[in-house]
Amino acid sequence: MANKQFDVVVIGGGPGGYIAAIRAAQLGFSTACVEFEAFADPKGEVRLGGTCLNVGCIPSKALLRSSELYDEANHAFVMHGISADGVKMDVGTMIRRKDNIVTQLTSGIKGLFKKNKVTLLAGRGSFAGRENELWQVQVTAKDGGSEVVDAKHVIVATGSSPRHLDGIPVDNAVICDNVGALAFDSVPKRLGVIGAGVIGLELGSVWKRLGSDVTILEALPDFLGGADAAVTKEAWKVFTQKQGLKINLGVKINAVKKGKHGVAIEYDMGDGAFTLEVDRLIVSVGRVPNTAGLGADNVGLKIDERGRIDVNDHCQTNLDNVWAVGDVIRGPMLAHKGMEEGVMVAELIAGQAGHVNYDTIPYVIYTHPEIAWVGKTEQQLKNQGIEYRVGQIPFLANGRALGQGDTIGFVKMIACAKTDRVLGVHVMGANASELIAEAVVAMEFGAVAEDIARICHAHPTLSEVMHEAALAVDKRALHF
Ligand code: FAD
Ligand code: NAI
Repeated sequence: MANKQFDVVVIGGGPGGYIAAIRAAQLGFSTACVEFEAFADPKGEVRLGGTCLNVGCIPSKALLRSSELYDEANHAFVMHGISADGVKMDVGTMIRRKDNIVTQLTSGIKGLFKKNKVTLLAGRGSFAGRENELWQVQVTAKDGGSEVVDAKHVIVATGSSPRHLDGIPVDNAVICDNVGALAFDSVPKRLGVIGAGVIGLELGSVWKRLGSDVTILEALPDFLGGADAAVTKEAWKVFTQKQGLKINLGVKINAVKKGKHGVAIEYDMGDGAFTLEVDRLIVSVGRVPNTAGLGADNVGLKIDERGRIDVNDHCQTNLDNVWAVGDVIRGPMLAHKGMEEGVMVAELIAGQAGHVNYDTIPYVIYTHPEIAWVGKTEQQLKNQGIEYRVGQIPFLANGRALGQGDTIGFVKMIACAKTDRVLGVHVMGANASELIAEAVVAMEFGAVAEDIARICHAHPTLSEVMHEAALAVDKRALHF
């Protein structure tokens, strides 16, 4: 019997993959998406949405919200005259709420596949060969059964997995990566985290707010190296002094020993040797691209020196009609970046002018206050010898922020000294994740700071701080 044939076969059903599949189908291509992972589906059925929906962005934000409310009830209600004695957290309910959100969204993607006529092929996808200008993709199901389908185009979107360290056995019960850390059944009294990156800060914040004594061990001597120095300086103060996260920098982990009562982490810092004893440990030291088992060697698919699929600016691999998007290729490991690439590739296959502007991808860290930025940091501009002007306005000067009781942080806008073009915007504060969208739109349209300064912003809103920062670039802030 002849193999089933599709115009486009996408391998991987995470944000990069499912969006590529939906867009390809919208453009009229017969499209299939291969996914093998059930994640924690109670019926063992394949789940779409990848890391992001199942064990990443969405569940972490659900837990962040629950823990924020608990923290507010304990610490912020009082300033409004509300007493809330004896506030309790039922971790089981919090985790079930998170699981329900995940189920709702992942089954929603299955609905979108039906609506757009994308065929879901349940199994692990790998390259089997090429014949008559068609790629053969083998789909191996969990029960061992397999079929081969033919594809004119293949989009690889196999994502990434947590990086584990030698000698630190992750069991996702006591020593956890993101999967276990999103499913604790109780609040650990003492929580250790290896890696003060995005996951370490977000999940460290969740369990700290719920009452854990959290210690984060970070290898690098600097905190949040990729962010603007003004943000990292303020964030360090807020997280360590105000919120009580213990963050140790410049740490070298020597041994991790699991005992009856938790985990002992032996490490060096400065001239000293230390042991940290905790009930649970999260290992969040970055992620590695998923290329194993993909059959890359069968067809000569080029993998770069860092284990990622090698692609050009348009996500084309070294093979004809084979594309790759998302965490499995270069660039930041962010869901929205993968989704944009998925759309771009589908449109390029259709002969359209698909395009991703890598210079305007926003970054967000969902701590409280949130941190968000787009474009260049001041350090990067200095290193590149570009002259710039800065406008920085604190939320403390904003009526809405005061009303909300959320006055920590600032908006910092950096514009070219010669052209006034916005080069970077850095926000630390409540709702930074939403506020940054204005800066992204401005930069995408090539705005100058003066453009933002001349836009009418609703009053009273936090967005007025963005407005004031734009005015401040020209030293004419009105409220500060
Ligand atoms: P993935 O989401 O990893 O999906 C890849 C899919 O391919 C998986 O479902 C996998 O099972 C499947 N697959 C792999 N190999 C095969 C194969 N051979 N055959 C079939 N299927 C295969 N990003 C943000 O932008 N914002 C956030 O707030 C955010 N929070 C995060 C929080 C955590 C705790 C973590 C871990 C990540 C977070 N991320 C966040 C990152 C985000 O989840 C990833 O960037 C995003 O999921 C990458 O999408 P992707 O489609 O490339 O890969
Ligand atoms: P990360 O790259 O953000 O941080 C890892 C940290 O671990 C780094 O600071 C690194 O220096 C440190 N580290 C590495 N090896 C170490 C060692 N041996 N000992 C001590 N520290 C060590 O990676 P993280 O937090 O695991 O997250 C993975 C990815 O997931 C992120 O890069 C990001 O792309 C994505 N993500 C995005 C989120 C968002 O957009 N809000 C939230 C969570 C994850």
